[in-house]
Amino acid sequence: MEKMKAVVYNKKGSPDKLIYCETDKPVPDNDEVLIKVQTVSLNAADYRSMKMGIIPGKKIFGADISGTIESVGKNITLFKSGDEVMGDLASFGFGGLAEYVTAPERALITKPSKISFEEAATMPMAAITALQAMRDKGNIQKGHKVLIVGCAGGVGTFAIQLAKYFETEVTGVCSSKNVQQSEILGADFVIDYNKDDFSKSDKIYNLILGINGNYPLLAYRKCLAPNGIYVMIGGSLSQIFKSLLFGWFYSLGSKKMRSVAAKPNRHDLEFLAKLLENGRIKPVIDRRYSLDMTSDAMNYLSQGHSTGKVIINI
Ligand SMILES: NC(=O)c1ccc[n+]([C@@H]2O[C@H](COP(=O)([O-])OP(=O)(O)OC[C@H]3O[C@@H](n4cnc5c(N)ncnc54)[C@H](OP(=O)(O)O)[C@@H]3O)[C@@H](O)[C@H]2O)c1
Repeated sequence: MEKMKAVVYNKKGSPDKLIYCETDKPVPDNDEVLIKVQTVSLNAADYRSMKMGIIPGKKIFGADISGTIESVGKNITLFKSGDEVMGDLASFGFGGLAEYVTAPERALITKPSKISFEEAATMPMAAITALQAMRDKGNIQKGHKVLIVGCAGGVGTFAIQLAKYFETEVTGVCSSKNVQQSEILGADFVIDYNKDDFSKSDKIYNLILGINGNYPLLAYRKCLAPNGIYVMIGGSLSQIFKSLLFGWFYSLGSKKMRSVAAKPNRHDLEFLAKLLENGRIKPVIDRRYSLDMTSDAMNYLSQGHSTGKVIINI
């Protein structure tokens, strides 16, 4: 059996349970491709699953990947050896934090040659989440006033840029250190949560994206315009539970309180890759790590204050 370097999950608990070691190089079956991984971007899905002891099928974390096809199974029609690809493997057992990973072709799209492996790896989960939240759950429309709470991380930095793409007026909420970045990404107004509380203002919004933080649902509801929509994307675990348990109750009336569970989608990813290729959106990369430093990267990300994306270059 051929070997490869990977970061393998050892036991429940802290990021130190990620072991950088040699393991068996995977072999694609007839319906899979083998990818030589170039870059992985980490997501909350990686460290939250790890903390909860939810071990991916491949025992290796890392969902968002970019890389080059090494070989293909005999039923593969969309790709051939040497093609550059990107995708989200969360629905297919993860496995990205390794030199090689196998995946079905429906998990992948061709990486546009104009975008780098690093840029490609930042996008799948974070950008699709932002897109599906605002377009599918939030019914975003030109001219809307949009509030993005938690606008500085992986999802938030894409959310600001996508909301501007949809020609809306964007207000972002983040800490002092990220105000300038949010303005550069296109936010029309930025509320520094270290100084101001968005819920104390009289301003109302057509769409609120709750990406991070832990605010009372009533605070969000108060800030919605009539027929406005709040979409819970993430935040503290108590924020998520509150939204899932009581969202329906606060949706009685014209204001709607929803949540999103983003689904990997080739069509959406191709749309986003095109926006990136055309310079309409640009990933923000906070930190780069090598594969053997994955524990440090996961530790940093789990503190919840990364500015944009954290990536691992294999
Ligand atoms: N529903 C879905 O399908 C889905 C998909 C992907 C992710 N998620 C969830 O979405 C959330 C964000 O993911 P992510 O990848 O963007 O995480 P991330 O990159 O770790 O987000 C970090 C950002 O959150 C901001 N933040 C932290 N505390 C905040 C607060 N109290 N108020 C406002 N902003 C705050 C930080 O900005 P400051 O440093 O300025 O505070 C930091 O820039 C996570 O909870 C994740 O689980 C959900």
